[in-house]
Amino acid sequence: MNVNIPKHIAIIMDGNGRWGKSRGLTRSEGHYAGAKAMEKVIDASIDLGVNVLTLYAFSSENWSRPKDEVNYLMRLPVKFFNQKLPEFMKRNCQIRISGNMDSLPNNTKDALNRAVEKTKNNDGLIVNFAFNYGGRDDILQAVCAVIKEVKKNNIDLETMDEAMFNRFLYTRDLPDPDLIIRTGGEKRVSNFLLWQSSMSELYFSDVYFPDFDERHLKEAIKGCRHMVTQ
Ligand code: IPE
Ligand code: IPE
Ligand code: MG
Repeated sequence: MNVNIPKHIAIIMDGNGRWGKSRGLTRSEGHYAGAKAMEKVIDASIDLGVNVLTLYAFSSENWSRPKDEVNYLMRLPVKFFNQKLPEFMKRNCQIRISGNMDSLPNNTKDALNRAVEKTKNNDGLIVNFAFNYGGRDDILQAVCAVIKEVKKNNIDLETMDEAMFNRFLYTRDLPDPDLIIRTGGEKRVSNFLLWQSSMSELYFSDVYFPDFDERHLKEAIKGCRHMVTQ
C-alpha cells in the first residue's frame, strides 16, 4: 500500500452483540466472534508494519450490562490468552493492558498479567488491550497519582507538563493514536482515550466488528491523512 502507515491505531470494537443477533446467535457468541476478528486484525497490523494496536475490549461503563454478559466478557481473556499466548510469542507481540486492573476478578487479572509478563521482552507489534478502561477514569487516576507523588516530594508541581503527565496515564509511554477506528456504525467515542485522542483522526465503519478484516483496516488506513507522530 502506497500510503503512510499510522504508528498507533486504536479500535473501538463495537457491534459484537448486533452481529450475533443478526445471525440468530447470542450476544456472547458475538463476543467470541469478535475475539476471532481481533486475531485477524492483529495479523494484518503486523503485516502492515503498525507499531501499536490498541483494542477497546471492555469499558468502565460495560459493568452495567446484564450479569451473564459481564461474566462472559471477564472469562473471555482467560480463554483467549490460554489459547493464544504461544501465537503471540511466535509473532513477537508485546501485550499491554490499559485500564483499572484492581476491580477485575482474580482469574481475569491473572490471565492479563501473565500475558503481559510473558511477552514483555518481545519487540514486535505492541497489542494494548484497553480493558476496564474509561477515559475519565484514566485522567482521574493520573491526577490522584500525581498528587501522591507531589505529597511525597517526588515531583515539583512547577515542572509538571503534558509529557510528564502522560507517564501517569494507563497508556504511559505509548505514543498517542494517529487513527481511531470505531466499527458497528455508531459515531461516539464512548469514553475512549479522551486525553490521548486530542489530535487523532477518527474513522467510523458500519461493519460489525466480527466482520471487520484486513480489507476494512486497509480502507481505514488509506483515508488517514494526519499522523500525530511523524
Ligand atoms: C462491543 O460490542 C464489545 C464490547 C462492548 C465488549 P457490543 O457488545 O457493544 O455490541 P453491540 O454494540 O451491542 O452490537
Ligand atoms: C464501546 O462500545 C466500548 C467497547 C467497544 C469496549 P459500547 O457498545 O460499550 O459503547 P456504547 O454503550 O454504545 O456507547
Ligand atoms: Mg456497542
